[in-house]
Amino acid sequence: MATACIVGWSHGKFGKLDGETSESLIVKAASEAIAHAGIEPKDIDVIYVGNMNGGFVRQEFHSSLALQTHPDLRFKPSTRVENACATGSAAIHMGLNTLAAGKARFVLVVGVEKMTELNSAQAGEVLIKASYVAEEANIEAGFAGIFGKITSAYFQRYGDKSDALAKIAVKAHKNGAKNPYAHFQKEFTYEFCRNPSDKNPFVAGPLKRTDCSPVTDGAAAVVLADVGTALGLRHAIAFRAAEHVNDFLPMSKRDIVKFEGPQLAWQRALASAKLDLLDLSFVETHDCFTSAELIEYEAMGLTAPGEGERAIHEGWVERDGKLPINVSGGLKAKGHPVGATGVSMHVMAAMQLSGAAPAALQLPKADKAGVFNMGGAAVANYVSILEPLR
Ligand code: COA
Repeated sequence: MATACIVGWSHGKFGKLDGETSESLIVKAASEAIAHAGIEPKDIDVIYVGNMNGGFVRQEFHSSLALQTHPDLRFKPSTRVENACATGSAAIHMGLNTLAAGKARFVLVVGVEKMTELNSAQAGEVLIKASYVAEEANIEAGFAGIFGKITSAYFQRYGDKSDALAKIAVKAHKNGAKNPYAHFQKEFTYEFCRNPSDKNPFVAGPLKRTDCSPVTDGAAAVVLADVGTALGLRHAIAFRAAEHVNDFLPMSKRDIVKFEGPQLAWQRALASAKLDLLDLSFVETHDCFTSAELIEYEAMGLTAPGEGERAIHEGWVERDGKLPINVSGGLKAKGHPVGATGVSMHVMAAMQLSGAAPAALQLPKADKAGVFNMGGAAVANYVSILEPLR
């Protein structure tokens, strides 16, 4: 039984956006989402701004920047939400909880990150704060080092899966080339992704540059409303399920190859929606690194543990496969402006489900979507199952 709906959305171009600030990105995303919902700024009751920051930009206090969108937003309650790379979904969940509590009719959620004022090494220093600093902060190569370690552990247990990782990167860029919002809109060959080179060096453990999501600027926004309100509006994409599972932060307290938090979030969401995984038309999943996507195939139940490579080798997750995954290009090609990512995933899904995705991106059949957004190394895990309300 749906509890709430996405009734409006917006998505800016992701990339290295020189000349934009987190403020300008927030204002644009918020105004476009409110207009898309067909409501007025005065109708918004509550605002959440998803922003991780941690030093990407000097401005830390982002909540009231959303009020710059329109004078009628002055005095509305607005809160910044942070949950590492799942910040965007965390902000959406705050909105869902606010609606469920009857505290609002309309909630505006904006996800934003301006990362490229720092170079990759400096950005890595910020991102590593999303690890268990007491034990993990000295791993080299920033957050990529965390996933380098996870990938090495996976290869030790199940064998070298570099072929599968390269194919996942190729798929991401093939899909991203169709997405006008994506950071990278060009295809990469299998040979380029598979073989280390000057242009594709090793970054951390077995991970090469083409296995990593980039450092990106961007924003996306949604307007949420209760189901009764949504029935009278032009767009209504319902949450059939929304689950949030946190796991221990230290990797030393978990089997890091298993992604048990994501698995539980998926199991709960599918049970709550009364659906099987393959009832979904497509999934947007958190491919911050290609190996994350590989392990997520297993966590969502698409393959048995250690067999994730089958999903990519046998074409199941391609655009025309039995469960298309990351038709948007995913974080790998679309980019991963961390605070915006979870909101972006929901917007990409809402566009597909309403037949409003950019023409080259639109799937022929899209009536149920799964979204998985993850903060840290399988720590903060959010699964949404979305479908059109009518
Ligand atoms: N995938 C593919 N190409 C990439 C890329 C990526 N992730 N990142 C950069 N490039 C390309 C650039 O477009 C540029 O191409 P050009 O020479 O044709 O202009 C080239 O590689 C060099 O870019 P640069 O920014 O100097 O690369 P870098 O080596 O400094 O950074 C990474 C590459 C992978 C280290 C960086 O993107 C990174 O740290 N990513 C991980 C971010 C992260 O941890 N996010 C959180 C995840 S939870």
